[in-house]
Amino acid sequence: MRHLMNPLDFTTEELEQLFDLADDIQAHPDKYAHKCEGKKLATCFYEPSTRTRLSFESAMLNLGGHVIGFSDANSSSAAKGESVSDTIRMISCYADICAMRHPKEGAPMVAATKSSIPVINAGDGGHQHPTQTLTDLLTIRSLKGRLNNFTVGLCGDLKFGRTAHSLVNALVRYDNISFIFISPEELKIPSYLRDKLKELNIPFKEVIRLEDSLPELDLLYMTRVQRERFFNEEDYVRLKDFYILNKEKMKLAPEDMLVLHPLPRVNEISVEVDEDPRAVYFKQVQYGVYVRMALILTLLELA
Ligand code: NCD
Repeated sequence: MRHLMNPLDFTTEELEQLFDLADDIQAHPDKYAHKCEGKKLATCFYEPSTRTRLSFESAMLNLGGHVIGFSDANSSSAAKGESVSDTIRMISCYADICAMRHPKEGAPMVAATKSSIPVINAGDGGHQHPTQTLTDLLTIRSLKGRLNNFTVGLCGDLKFGRTAHSLVNALVRYDNISFIFISPEELKIPSYLRDKLKELNIPFKEVIRLEDSLPELDLLYMTRVQRERFFNEEDYVRLKDFYILNKEKMKLAPEDMLVLHPLPRVNEISVEVDEDPRAVYFKQVQYGVYVRMALILTLLELA
């Protein structure tokens, strides 16, 4: 039995298979409409979510399965002090697969060690968000036709943004990738990622100004400043509007650059950019359903 905690839990070959399956699901949805009949997905969300939870639920329903779960820790026994280890033992009796989001780094991993059903990390604190990364990679592969040879700019809260951490982790396995990390001093990428890039000899720069980097980028990954992970509101207010991508700045970017964002967006991308054909963040949402369908089938060994 396999779990998904980190995008690196799948080899690049396995990821290719998963993305091929997602492509086939997109092309022939009817073929997959009954694959999960009689199966249940539990969504255990101890932290707020719109896209991740609903895309998992939509994915399972598209496969003909059922969904149970909770979307607020206060409405579960966690409010009474139950540990994730105990909760997952119980969920294992109710469902066939579980997607778990938790504010504590490593909580889904702890759950996986006690689980008799596959557990998917749907975001653990400021650590990882592997299914968003699968979504990002499928979007890039579908729209660019490849996952190598890119200069990738990641912009915003690179300290707390788990989607950025997971994406960097996953992209280092492809050829000829270089990174430009665009963040204020206080929100730089964690040192463990910087060390990993150095160890692997992957070129990267850390800069503050977005405008200077835009002309060099093939992909721009914008992120929200993660208010809930700040220790004080004052720092958040000071940093929240540090970057605002607008039409004017988009003029500096190459014609074929893609703008991705895991969403939710706050102010970091002005709504006027939504009409730009390079803005693909709403397309990402749709790819997120196909890739989660492919993931559920793969983990349930129904692919
Ligand atoms: C992200 C998350 O939860 O980390 N959202 C998502 O799942 N698409 C990004 C964010 O909250 O900023």
